[in-house]
Amino acid sequence: MMTITNTAAIQIVTLERPALEAIGISKRYGSREVLCGVDLIVRAGQLHGLLGPNGAGKTTLMRVLLGLVGRDAGDVHLLGQRVDATDRRVPDGVAGFVDTPAFYPYLSGRRNLELLARLDGHRRADGAARVSDVLDQVGLSARADAAAGGYSAGMRQRLGLAAALMRSPRLLFLDEPTSSLDPAGARDVRALARRLADAGTAVVLSSHDMSEVEELCSTLTFIHHGHVIFSGTLEGVRMLAPPQVHAMHTSDDRAALGLASYRPGITAVRASGGGLEVSAHLEALDEYVIALGCAGIAVRALESRTRSLESLFLDITGDADGAEATTASRVSLAEADAPAVIS
Ligand SMILES: Nc1ncnc2c1ncn2[C@@H]1O[C@H](COP(=O)(O)OP(=O)(O)OP(=O)(O)O)[C@@H](O)[C@H]1O
Ligand SMILES: [Mg+2]
Repeated sequence: MMTITNTAAIQIVTLERPALEAIGISKRYGSREVLCGVDLIVRAGQLHGLLGPNGAGKTTLMRVLLGLVGRDAGDVHLLGQRVDATDRRVPDGVAGFVDTPAFYPYLSGRRNLELLARLDGHRRADGAARVSDVLDQVGLSARADAAAGGYSAGMRQRLGLAAALMRSPRLLFLDEPTSSLDPAGARDVRALARRLADAGTAVVLSSHDMSEVEELCSTLTFIHHGHVIFSGTLEGVRMLAPPQVHAMHTSDDRAALGLASYRPGITAVRASGGGLEVSAHLEALDEYVIALGCAGIAVRALESRTRSLESLFLDITGDADGAEATTASRVSLAEADAPAVIS
């Protein structure tokens, strides 16, 4: 009896489609291929980072997925519904904005949202309450009745987010939502994105700020010249990185160097400013530190120089400006995210 129930539960889990399933998306502008067979898979409750340098294709991908521009190839399922290449309507529950969202400049932020609420079929009273609620969520209530044309870039960005929230999204696309915000505003928007994901919304957030993605997102896709060069978890991308470098001071650096020389996975050299520079993945480092202790060598200081995602991606892409990615660096989210049990 128990076995049957478990099997049924596993089947439900494995059959549930991701909130966003985009496979093999290609897009040309004239003769230029801007997206080249891009895959993007995001599940409910995931906050997925879309990373890449200027011109990588992040905004274009979001435009395609929001039905703002057509695609030349690829299959798209949004919230389980197939969206044809010619279809410019996205299913209910999908929302977002790309670049800087546009509004009627002579109407207030509130009025703009009320019009959107009417378009989405809200009755006037419900719409007004919903508008007040989302204005509050994005921290725009105090300026809600001023003309949108007078808004700063950051305020327009907040209004864009409010417009997206009006649709109670289950799949939300945010194109660099913090790029024009001050640090406090950026922190609020990140917290809001986190809350939405925690409540089950699939959020795709583009950014060139690697630390933002590192802080917020559990999964990410890195695009470079329209190609996906990595898709998977943060842990996955860190595993692709070379061993971390650590600054180490011991009671006997010479003996510590000697011990390192025959340990696998450890590279130690004298640091120019004194002490040692030790390159190792975590497990090998743990074993080395234990071995030092066993040999009577005290570790007086050990500091890891954490590599930011940025430097990891420079390693993966080969250069800062855009050498093509190697096939070896491609990792699929499907692999990283594969369910442990398939019945
Ligand atoms: N409407 C358009 N017509 C022609 N080319 C376009 C158009 N929109 C984008 N492109 C080109 O497509 C490529 C990808 O642009 P996109 O705006 O998607 O990049 P991005 O990753 O969002 O960059 P950024 O980080 O600067 O926002 C760029 O080379 C850009 O010049
Ligand atoms: Mg962009």
